[in-house]
Amino acid sequence: MDGNGRWAKARGLDRVKGHIEGVESVRACIEAAVEKGIEYLSVYAFSEENWNRPQEEVIALMELMMQSMKNEFRTFMDNHVRFMVLGNRARLSENLNRTIDEMMEATSVEYKTTLILFLSYSGKWDILQAMKKAQAQLSPEAFQAMELADFDQYLVTAGIPDPDLLIRTSGELRISNYLLWQTAYTEFYFTDILWPDFRKPQFFEALEEYARRDRRYGKVK
Ligand code: IPE
Ligand code: MG
Repeated sequence: MDGNGRWAKARGLDRVKGHIEGVESVRACIEAAVEKGIEYLSVYAFSEENWNRPQEEVIALMELMMQSMKNEFRTFMDNHVRFMVLGNRARLSENLNRTIDEMMEATSVEYKTTLILFLSYSGKWDILQAMKKAQAQLSPEAFQAMELADFDQYLVTAGIPDPDLLIRTSGELRISNYLLWQTAYTEFYFTDILWPDFRKPQFFEALEEYARRDRRYGKVK
């Protein structure tokens, strides 16, 4: 989700207003995912690198995250949306962590769509913590014998399928330390649209484009 700041700047507004409007786009995309029966929708809300933004913006974003979660709780329950947060949770406030835990627990009962909020996440961090976890849990022999498919279970995304489609808005053509391991065969979709303007029709357009792609996974068809 990129372009909130530029969306606000173009209107002479504070950057935070762009983030607030961006929450509406998240809501629209969740609705679209539920409507289409998409099982997993992930949003990259805050990277490990985003902690280096001006403190006021970081505080405002964390506040907005907390508020939005609480606001959406009922909608999640009514629409059978399971809510998850993945990332370096140790860096989040105790208060935010408590709300996240409560929401994850309450929404994990009966669900059709899983919404994953990547918070304080980075792909390199994920790979490193996975390696450390595996090393701590396995004997030196088992660690050495580890195969590629065995590694997935140590990533924070353990048990979650790799993404089929990754959408990046605002015209930036990079992955910015998102799911590095998990996107090995993901289809990428880049659009110039700024995140606050990315709503249902734009999401459906991306899905249509994805449906036209030919996925060969390195093989010949
Ligand atoms: C994306 O919008 C939202 C977050 C990373 C939290 P930006 O804040 O990166 O918006 P631009 O790139 O400055 O326009
Ligand atoms: Mg940006």
